[in-house]
Amino acid sequence: MSSPPDFDPSVPIGRGLVLRNPVAVASGTFGFGLEAEAMGQIDHLGAIFSKGTTVEPRPGNRPPRIAETSSGMLNSIGLQNPGVELVAREYAPRWADWPVPVLVNVAGASVEEYVRVVSRLDRLPGVAGFELNISCPNIAHGLDFGTEPGAAARCTAAARAATELPLVVKLSPNVTDIAEIGHAVEDAGADAVSAVNTYLGMKISLRRRRPVLPGAGTAGLSGPAIKPMALAAVARLRRVLTIPILGIGGVASAEDALEYLVAGADAVQVGTANFSDPSASRKVLEGCLEFARSQGLGRWSDLRWRGPEEAGTA
Ligand SMILES: Cc1cc2nc3c(=O)[nH]c(=O)nc-3n(C[C@H](O)[C@H](O)[C@H](O)COP(=O)(O)O)c2cc1C
Repeated sequence: MSSPPDFDPSVPIGRGLVLRNPVAVASGTFGFGLEAEAMGQIDHLGAIFSKGTTVEPRPGNRPPRIAETSSGMLNSIGLQNPGVELVAREYAPRWADWPVPVLVNVAGASVEEYVRVVSRLDRLPGVAGFELNISCPNIAHGLDFGTEPGAAARCTAAARAATELPLVVKLSPNVTDIAEIGHAVEDAGADAVSAVNTYLGMKISLRRRRPVLPGAGTAGLSGPAIKPMALAAVARLRRVLTIPILGIGGVASAEDALEYLVAGADAVQVGTANFSDPSASRKVLEGCLEFARSQGLGRWSDLRWRGPEEAGTA
């Protein structure tokens, strides 16, 4: 997959980490990359964002955990993961040989837990950076760091103090003003933000007269259904942030990815689309490069919408 001549497809996302192209895969939709690597499906990627990793292993929520909706899916996985120790001992050494940077998505129920995960993985060969999931809607009783600027800033600052590696903070869309949270984490030391995590949703079984998913019945909505809302979130963030933005939400085609770059993203993450088509990210990248060639782009940021025109004065 070659780039057009005179076109630099790379994207810096902070602290010297330069993605060789703007197409990454989103946390929780690509595991820890091992299966995809075995199938030869990682070499094209700009980056891999791992499944959310916590201090202790987590079995996740009881099934069913997934439900299909119109143009999307609901998930209530509950952060199933093998715990940081196994990630450090078994996965990181394998990532060290890969041609693609792996950023570990970190979750926790307290600031201290985030710091413990980051500290354990910091400076291990194979770990290129971190993505703080301050926005997971699926853990009962977990503190919600993503919905209050002070808490988001404290979590970011504590992780910042624990590593020199690139630190991406993943924002929740389930807030009144995402820009306020984005601003708080930028000030607290985030190198980039990813936007967005899933939207809170619910599916009802009319036959059973109750939600389809167990527990409170709420879950995270992803897929094409959320793209217009996620694009609006990215455009809003671009108005107030100076750091790079990774756009996420319903990216399944090159057009989707390019729309995010126009809205203000520097790169995108492909999520739910990986489930229906494991080669989705490759097709997204190929289409983006073809577009760059046909449009004679110099760099991706040439696409960016510069914002609403000033209202004319009479
Ligand atoms: C099954 C599933 C598991 C997910 N797990 C995580 C996770 O562990 N950490 C995280 O930050 N986001 C997680 N996400 C959210 C995705 O990374 C992404 O932000 C969201 O799905 C929106 O993108 P999409 O519409 O392309 O899927 C998960 C999403 C799905 C569908």
